[in-house]
Amino acid sequence: MSGLLCLCRQGFEPELAAELSERAAYANVAGYARTQRNDGYVVFVTEEGAALSKALSWRSLIFARQKLQVLAELPQLDAADRITPIIAALQGQQRFGDMWVEHPDSDEGKPLAGLARAFGNALRPALRKAGLLTDKPNTGLPRLHIVFVDGRHAFVCVADTRDSAPWPLGIPRLKLLPDAPSRSALKLDEALLTLMTPEERELLVKPGMRAADLGAAPGGWTWVLTRQHVKVISVDNGPLREHVLETGLVEHLRADGFHWQPETPLDWMVCDMVEQPRRVAERMATWFREGWCKHAIFNLKLPMKKRWDETRLCLELFQEQAGKPLHLRAKQLYHDREEITVLASPLR
Ligand SMILES: C[S@@+](CC[C@H](N)C(=O)[O-])C[C@H]1O[C@@H](n2cnc3c(N)ncnc32)[C@H](O)[C@@H]1O
Repeated sequence: MSGLLCLCRQGFEPELAAELSERAAYANVAGYARTQRNDGYVVFVTEEGAALSKALSWRSLIFARQKLQVLAELPQLDAADRITPIIAALQGQQRFGDMWVEHPDSDEGKPLAGLARAFGNALRPALRKAGLLTDKPNTGLPRLHIVFVDGRHAFVCVADTRDSAPWPLGIPRLKLLPDAPSRSALKLDEALLTLMTPEERELLVKPGMRAADLGAAPGGWTWVLTRQHVKVISVDNGPLREHVLETGLVEHLRADGFHWQPETPLDWMVCDMVEQPRRVAERMATWFREGWCKHAIFNLKLPMKKRWDETRLCLELFQEQAGKPLHLRAKQLYHDREEITVLASPLR
């Protein structure tokens, strides 16, 4: 079996399957998505797994937390010896620079965490003995992933370290600091980490920059920006937490985020207003068309049924109305629930 295995938020398999199918067709790769509701993963079966993986970069996939290329599917492993068939499936492969044993982040997958840990400890020395794994992690070599979907059924996969999530299960482990005004702060933290490369982050988010935060209360996103020493105009009729205002970097405006506009152009605009996604996409486009900001990070809430269709429609609407070529990256982050987070920037 060859193809891609992508991990996603439980319940969002239809969106990921639609995304993979549409993008594979666009890349002229024949195949089909194999998926089951609430599995927390989708397999895209194709004989051109390597080509498809190249065509669909991890950062460009919206509903995939992780993207892996499948080397083998082992659906009937014997609990007495799972190692031998895995080593056999890897015959002829080059040495891997690391190995992770994982499982989907789903109701059925989560109980496999203990097995994954114990099995990883047993498999590692066997791989080294077979010349398939380096002694120390080496990010210059491909990473081996063993993904258990139940105790007897595993996928043997490979990931390019430059084109995959650098976190097991595709989940960055972020800690909510005690003075974070809201859990939403983690969303912007994760967006900065996931939607930009470290080089882009350094280039695009600098001390002294000016930003607007639309729908800012109680101040989580504003607080994340102030921690980067960015000055923020926080727009919301609701109150901001006192310690956010005390940073001296924040101006709180009680105004409507759909009507307020800055007096002079800003470096950044971020927006977490809970509203119809099309309305948000249109307002975000206005900001770029009018030159009110250079870069933006915004959330599109997707409480409706046809979430893939709505996602595509909103992103197309935004691009059409922004009136200039922009680089767009969108992801359903781990800390996003029924929503996606979008980065728009002129940077390519
Ligand atoms: C999800 S909360 C934002 C949380 C915030 N990002 C944080 O990290 O603490 C959504 C906010 O959007 C605000 N909001 C909704 N519609 C708005 C509008 N038209 N203008 C300004 N704020 C609005 C609400 O008052 C609410 O505080």
